[in-house]
Amino acid sequence: MKIGGTPYRTIWPESDGAVGIIDQTRLPHAFETLKLATLEDAAHAIRIMQVRGAPLIGVTAAYGLALAVRADASDGGLESAAKTLAATRPTAVNLAWALNEMLQILRPLAPAERVAAAFAKAAELADDDVETCRRIGAHGKAIIEEIAGKHDRTLNILTHCNAGWLACVDWGTALSPIYQAHDAGIPVHVWVDETRPRNQGAALTAFELGAHGVPHTVIADNAGGHLMQHGDVDLCIVGCDRLAAAGDAANKIGTYLKALAAKDNGVPFYFALPLSTIDWTLSDGVRDIPIEERDARELTHMTGRAESGDIVTVQVTAPGSAGANPAFDVTPARLITGIITERGVSPASREGLASTYPEYARTA
Ligand code: MRU
Repeated sequence: MKIGGTPYRTIWPESDGAVGIIDQTRLPHAFETLKLATLEDAAHAIRIMQVRGAPLIGVTAAYGLALAVRADASDGGLESAAKTLAATRPTAVNLAWALNEMLQILRPLAPAERVAAAFAKAAELADDDVETCRRIGAHGKAIIEEIAGKHDRTLNILTHCNAGWLACVDWGTALSPIYQAHDAGIPVHVWVDETRPRNQGAALTAFELGAHGVPHTVIADNAGGHLMQHGDVDLCIVGCDRLAAAGDAANKIGTYLKALAAKDNGVPFYFALPLSTIDWTLSDGVRDIPIEERDARELTHMTGRAESGDIVTVQVTAPGSAGANPAFDVTPARLITGIITERGVSPASREGLASTYPEYARTA
């Protein structure tokens, strides 16, 4: 996607051997890029969310492994780097998926061959993610087109968190259908949940949609149910961090409440995600998907731009109050209208996913 007319991906190899990223902790107030030069740089960037979003976490981990192998290509170095990266964030399964893709290529090679192979494989995963997200967008656009065909007005789509190009390498998952519908001339307007506590909606989704010229309005996280009751939401599309094999979907905290409200109001609720987000080993997502607990400071403090123009952090809670910060929740399959994948729209069920991805589904 373009920023100020310049095309960007969220991650790229630099000519000096480092890996470039957009520092997402500075958006939307400052567009700054950073160079990752070491394994520790990559792990730190994932941990503090300079890069975030399930597919981008995976590709960053792949490049992180390539940077690690350049410093130590031994078997021990490879395994220990993979362990360090795997421990950075627990919920998005794309991280483990990407590391596994890398390890399968690198383990059989002699150490001297590993560096070139690691950078090549990381670049391949990045390119594949772009194409996968483009396809997700094409399938999602067909849903938007169909609903738009029933109305002679702008379609209102609600999304939560940021599952746009900033969360992937390009295009996005949940936002890719919206970009493609907008580009095709279908009149769409997006309700953007602010997504407390880190405000990925207000800061990142609004930034992206604005840069692409897509009409949108930021709403408080608590507003979605009210808008649905009043007929102001035609469709919800969100991203996903881990989909259990039976169709339960983990996404940013607050997604579940939106899905409940959507069910109560007959609003279709879709998750958009690639194969790399599906965890075929888990059956009951509510019980089994690990939920990341983040620092309560993300809740007790907020960062924004002051009228002076300075970026400032302020405390919003009473001094001394404790805070709890589970970063994801799980929406049970029964609340999900469908899963928009790169292979088409699948029912949120074991059978539906197995027929969309027959070569991956387990029989157990
Ligand atoms: O904590 P984050 O910002 O990494 O969480 C991101 C989300 O929950 C996204 O909606 C999800 O990863 C889907 S990304 C295409």
